[in-house]
Formats: sequence, C-alpha cells, structure tokens
Amino acid sequence: MARFTNKVSVVTGAGSGIGREMALRLASEGSAVLCADIDEQGAQATAARVEELGAKSIGLGLDVTDSEALKASLERAVKDLGGLHVLMNNAGVGSGHGWDRTTEVNLSGVYYGLIHAAPMMAAAGGGAIVNTASVAGLHGLVRAPAYDVLDPAHMEGVSAYVAAKHGVVGLTKQFAVSFGPANVRVNAVCPGYIVTPMTEKARGVEGGTEFLQSIHPMARLGQPEEIASVAAFLASDDASFVTGVAMPVDGGYSAR
Ligand SMILES: NC(=O)c1ccc[n+]([C@@H]2O[C@H](COP(=O)([O-])OP(=O)(O)OC[C@H]3O[C@@H](n4cnc5c(N)ncnc54)[C@H](O)[C@@H]3O)[C@@H](O)[C@H]2O)c1
Repeated sequence: MARFTNKVSVVTGAGSGIGREMALRLASEGSAVLCADIDEQGAQATAARVEELGAKSIGLGLDVTDSEALKASLERAVKDLGGLHVLMNNAGVGSGHGWDRTTEVNLSGVYYGLIHAAPMMAAAGGGAIVNTASVAGLHGLVRAPAYDVLDPAHMEGVSAYVAAKHGVVGLTKQFAVSFGPANVRVNAVCPGYIVTPMTEKARGVEGGTEFLQSIHPMARLGQPEEIASVAAFLASDDASFVTGVAMPVDGGYSAR
C-alpha cells in the first residue's frame, strides 16, 4: 500500500523512538519526509534510513520550542521537498525535565507546529496533522515503583507531563474544529507505555517492566511501530472523515 505517494511529511522528534518509526512508515508508503529533531545527528540518521527506502528526505536540527525555527522547517519542506501534506507533531520529553521545560516542549512545541502548519496546509487545499499525546492526555498516571509521590521533583514532572498532554488533546480538538472547513484534519494518538528511550528508566528499575506490563490489559508494552501505523492511518485518506479524535493506542490501558 502506498497511501502517501507524492506527499511530503514533516516529523518532529524524528531522531528516536516513535518519531523515527513514523518517518520510516510514511516513507515506506511513498512520502518524502523532513526529519526534525533537537538531536541533529539523530534526525540525519533517520533521514538516511528514509532515503534507503527510496524516498526523498532532509534531516534537520530543530528545537520545537523555537516557534520561528519550526516555521522555517515547515517552509523548508515546501521549498525543497515540494509541499506540506502531513505533520507528525511528535517531539516530546518525559516527566524528568521540570515544569517549564516539559510544558514548553510538550505543549507549546505542539502549538507552534499547529499554528504554523494548519494555515499553510489550508492555503494549499488541505492536509493532516497528527499530534502525539499520550494516555497521560486522557488520565492521570498511576504510581510506578520507580517514583515517589512525596518527592516534589517527581510530582512536578508528572504533573507537567499530564497537564501538557491533556493540553495537546485540547489543541487537537480546537484546531480540528477551526480548520475543518479548510480540509485540514487534526487528530492525536495517545500511546500507552512504549519501548523507546523515554521509558528506559521506568523499565529499568527492579520490577519496573512487570509493573508497566500489568497496567495494560494486553499485558505487554507497545512498540513504536504500533504507534506509527495508527498515526499513518490517521494521516491517510483512509481516515478522510476523521478529525478531532484522541485515539488511544495502548493495549487497553484506557479501557479500564
Ligand atoms: N514512550 C512512551 O511510552 C510514550 C507514551 C506516550 C506518549 N509518548 C510521546 O511520544 C513522543 C515520542 O516519544 P518517544 O517515546 O519516541 O521518546 P524518545 O525519547 O525516543 O524520542 C523523543 C524525541 O524527541 C526529541 N526532542 C526532545 N525535545 C525536543 C525539542 N525541544 N525539539 C525537537 N525534538 C525534541 C528527542 O531528541 C527525541 O529524539 C513524545 O511526545 C512522548 O511524550 C511516549
């Protein structure tokens, strides 16, 4: 299946984990992909893998908290790859980064992607944006063995992460409503716990992996490819009448 032939996609946080798999999935279905990440080497490594799949690619250093730089990356996709049809607004940090940085990256960074990409797509006749939220955008997070609620740094981080991800779900609905008439669809994926570097610490403590498995009814963690495939569905014409949804991709975590 090549649902993205002649399309151009931008993926933020493309240097690792879920973002890397999003870039590879889009490329495997025919899209050119601009891979952006604060880790420029990671972005370029993903871009090289995209090219191995036969798709055009650019790997770029980008901090999504820099609104103008994010806008310039989107414009670069138009100029050098020929358009902007899909944005995977995916870059994010885990809960160990304090209130300001977590909300800056995970909420403001997503907003900057939306506020620049949606009008560009609207002017070009339409497009699709997929925000990476989380089950933490739908629920509070249960206490894992690695963490202590009496530790203020932990509570600051987890509060910021949950608040930011709930904010991403809100932004998804607002942009879907505002840009629906312009044929720009905006959806979110809400992953459960996924095997990426972000969850390395939580998985690494004694009993950590078993605990995380136990809170998913499917009794396992997800793989980044399993998020990328759903994000690709939401970005594709297969989801042409789907906008404003926050779709759990979580092995049943949010069904309980
Ligand atoms: N792994 C999980 O269990 C999980 C669950 C739910 C949601 N998520 C979300 O999925 C997204 C991807 O996370 P992941 O699990 O692939 O983690 P990851 O750490 O493997 O990848 C995140 C990427 O984002 C990049 N990044 C961080 N700050 C950035 C910034 N300011 N500008 C640009 N790039 C930046 C990192 O360099 C990294 O390459 C995040 O938004 C995360 O919150 C992850």
